[in-house]
Amino acid sequence: MPVRIRRHGIIVVFIQGEAVRKNVEVEPLPQNSGGLNVMADAQRFKQIMNNLLNNAVKFTPPGGHFGIHVDQTGDAIMIDVWDTGIGIPEKDIPFIFTPFFQAENRSGEDVEGTGLGLSLVKQLVEAHGWQVTVESVLDRGSTFTIHIPLSALTTEEPAAVYY
Ligand SMILES: Nc1ncnc2c1ncn2[C@@H]1O[C@H](COP(=O)(O)OP(=O)(O)OP(=O)(O)O)[C@@H](O)[C@H]1O
Ligand SMILES: [Mg+2]
Repeated sequence: MPVRIRRHGIIVVFIQGEAVRKNVEVEPLPQNSGGLNVMADAQRFKQIMNNLLNNAVKFTPPGGHFGIHVDQTGDAIMIDVWDTGIGIPEKDIPFIFTPFFQAENRSGEDVEGTGLGLSLVKQLVEAHGWQVTVESVLDRGSTFTIHIPLSALTTEEPAAVYY
């Protein structure tokens, strides 16, 4: 089922509400930023984005920022979900997609969760034949990247639009 991805941003509305409550700012979307159509399971794509955006808000202290950046190279489409949050300790990064794993540097009010979100993200991303990677610096922030092969691009009319 084709899914349309805005080139410069995908904001799921309820995440934006949560961000406002917490005073974490989402990077504004440029007007008329265009987009690209990708073959994906619309429901699962939404679950992937919701989990990554939820984490971005949850692990970013008030006053911080998060956002989405979509880029296309010769090989792949890359969707970055980035934040300026607490980051992940280097020793924990290899385990971050393991079910029930939670890093030790979590603190404050927003630490609830089961540690399953990212394992689900990895499963759903790989079910599409895509890949997910992470880059993170402790106390600086994190970027989760979904790598989608160009073969997923389609000209079919989108069944769902994310922006
Ligand atoms: N954006 C992020 N910034 C900092 N740490 C993160 C981020 N995303 C995930 N983590 C770390 O990875 C762990 C696993 O993430 P995951 O989404 O699987 O679990 P969770 O958010 O704790 O719980 P759940 O998603 O089940 O509600 C988190 O507990 C946290 O330690
Ligand atoms: Mg989570």
